[in-house]
Amino acid sequence: MADDLDAIRSELDAAAAAADTTAAIEAVRIDFLGRKGRITELLKTLGALAPDARRERGANLNRLKTDVESRLEARRRSLSDQALDQRLGSERFDVTLPTRPESEGRLHPISQTIDEVVAIFGEMGFQVAEGPDIEDDWHNFTALNIPPEHPARQTMDTFYLPGQPGAPKTVLRTHTSPVQVRTMKILKPPIRIIVPGRTFRSDSDATHSPMFHQVEGLLIDETTHFGHLKGCLIDFCRAFFGIDNLPVRFRPSYFPFTEPSAEVDIGCSRKGGELKIGGGDDWLEILGSGMVNPKVLENCGIDSTKYQGFAFGMGLERIAMLKHGIPDLRTFYESDLRWLRHYGFSELSVPSMVLGLEP
Ligand code: PHE
Repeated sequence: MADDLDAIRSELDAAAAAADTTAAIEAVRIDFLGRKGRITELLKTLGALAPDARRERGANLNRLKTDVESRLEARRRSLSDQALDQRLGSERFDVTLPTRPESEGRLHPISQTIDEVVAIFGEMGFQVAEGPDIEDDWHNFTALNIPPEHPARQTMDTFYLPGQPGAPKTVLRTHTSPVQVRTMKILKPPIRIIVPGRTFRSDSDATHSPMFHQVEGLLIDETTHFGHLKGCLIDFCRAFFGIDNLPVRFRPSYFPFTEPSAEVDIGCSRKGGELKIGGGDDWLEILGSGMVNPKVLENCGIDSTKYQGFAFGMGLERIAMLKHGIPDLRTFYESDLRWLRHYGFSELSVPSMVLGLEP
């Protein structure tokens, strides 16, 4: 009786050995163990046997069933080993080949400059704030004490956007100062913010671009006075240009949103047409500043009898050009890779004090 099982076993051996793809192995499995498979059919006949004979034949059939499974599994494994051996035999990896050059990306000088400015003011407790590029007339001008018909509006070369009848006039912001207004409307003093961002004026030559960047600063509390403004900006200029004794001068000026106002100059020399930041007997203007005009505080809902503070704004391209000797502002936006490789920064050169990580 067990003879027929021996016969099946040898047929299995032959079929398994001949199966050389996973599909062929599966066909063998179905042939023996599928719903109508040969062993399955034999299992169905067990019920007709006497109990003793059924027990013995049942055990034999079950053993045969597990044998089929393990035989086929072994076959599958040997096929995939073979395939791997074949790949390992044919693929060659030549460790003597020279490496492929990797091109490292560079940080644009504007990104680098923003990181540096934010790091320096971050150390002084300023936090970054942002505002929209498209502003309404009120935030860009009126709230900053520049009413309609004010001559300062003419000096800004504003891009006005086509307006909807009845809707407030909108502009591409001409400076980052509207973010002062937005911040004062939302936050209660004390306020210490720094605002890097894009600004727009209809102007284009070697030192002007219709789109450029500014960084704005605003500090409001109950006691900050002009001496703090001076100390803060002197420290900033010396840290940014990396010159400890850099001469810094405050020159009286006028902005509608600050009173008194001062323009800030740093010492430089221009011997033989070559500009050198630091010593020398010449001055270079780098930013505008002043004590926030009480009218601006009131426009933003801040009690000007209780609070005061200072604000400043500077052009990022300008300070980047001065620090790194970049002669033409328009080149910042030409996306010339040779220029970027030359003036760009490796990511590792971002100062470690960014985000106050310095111990
Ligand atoms: N918003 C001024 C400008 O664009 C700069 C400035 C900001 C001056 C804050 C004083 C205070 O020229």
